[in-house]
Amino acid sequence: MNAADIKEKAFVEIKKIESTSQLEEARIRYLGRDGLVNQLFAEIPELPREEDRKKAGIYLNEIKLEIEEALAQRDRQLKKLSAKELEKVPFDITAPGIPMTGGLGSIHPLTQLRQFVLDTFSNLGFEEVSAPHIETDDYNFGLLNVLADHPARDLWDTLYLEDGRLLRTHTSNMQVREMKKRLSAQAGKPPIRVMTFDRCFRYENLDPQHSHTFTQFEILYVDHHVSMANLRFLSDYFLKRFFGEKTKTRFRPKYYPFVEPGVGVDALGPNGWIEIAGAGLVHPQVLRNGGIDPNQYSGLAWGFGPDRMLMAKLGIDDIRSFYEGDLRFLKQF
Ligand code: PHE
Repeated sequence: MNAADIKEKAFVEIKKIESTSQLEEARIRYLGRDGLVNQLFAEIPELPREEDRKKAGIYLNEIKLEIEEALAQRDRQLKKLSAKELEKVPFDITAPGIPMTGGLGSIHPLTQLRQFVLDTFSNLGFEEVSAPHIETDDYNFGLLNVLADHPARDLWDTLYLEDGRLLRTHTSNMQVREMKKRLSAQAGKPPIRVMTFDRCFRYENLDPQHSHTFTQFEILYVDHHVSMANLRFLSDYFLKRFFGEKTKTRFRPKYYPFVEPGVGVDALGPNGWIEIAGAGLVHPQVLRNGGIDPNQYSGLAWGFGPDRMLMAKLGIDDIRSFYEGDLRFLKQF
């Protein structure tokens, strides 16, 4: 076979190749050490004229390059085709997964605290409930004795929506919702023992102490003869479990329109007293708003900020770390 025939034959063959192993076979057959092209190179010295030997060398080199390029081109086509084939293969959900690199991850510190707090209070008979993040003015404020023109509104920097609703500023929006819900259900009369651990939102100037999104935990307990003694017990019980048996707790008078009396609950942490919770006995008007007769029943409400508590306990200096999803922060817990 002369050089032109070999080139012709190679091109036809390469176009039909269907796999990389066939491609390799063809490469060896044409361009390998004992391949067809080299066999022709071997004949060059037999040409009598110097000039012809030179021309033949150049010509064969060109053919060699052309065949190489044809092989490479077919290789690229085959890879594209196989990617297309792969797309057609149905996704196999039973296939073993790809091993994770960098460890299994960890549970977010707020989620860890959430589990601890919900465990603690469900042992005391509290049931977990939830209330909307997007709330009406009534449930977040009005029914809690915070009327529209009341100066106490300034206690909560509120994010309002265009339709008049708002992003709830505290978990206290669950209070009247839960009272009403229980009353409409036949079996729903007090005692009410509910709790929620969830997000709240405020219009804050952001800094290490303030995040527009934060967390509150809140309990509501309504029954005959619920008193400040119950509040005292629950505060002590919880804070000792959290900060350790030696922790002291104290109540300070504090104003919230929906409780009377109202208190701030402090705990003695490693760096002195820290304010943990707001609490008090549910205001009679709030009970009434929830359809409960304040002459028969009384209630307590108690809420704290899990972010602040974790910051105090773990020495975290920026509240926003809880909400930024930065792995360097999260991996530490
Ligand atoms: N909702 C109050 C706050 O956001 C806290 C609180 C809860 C106070 C329950 C009294 C009773 O600050």
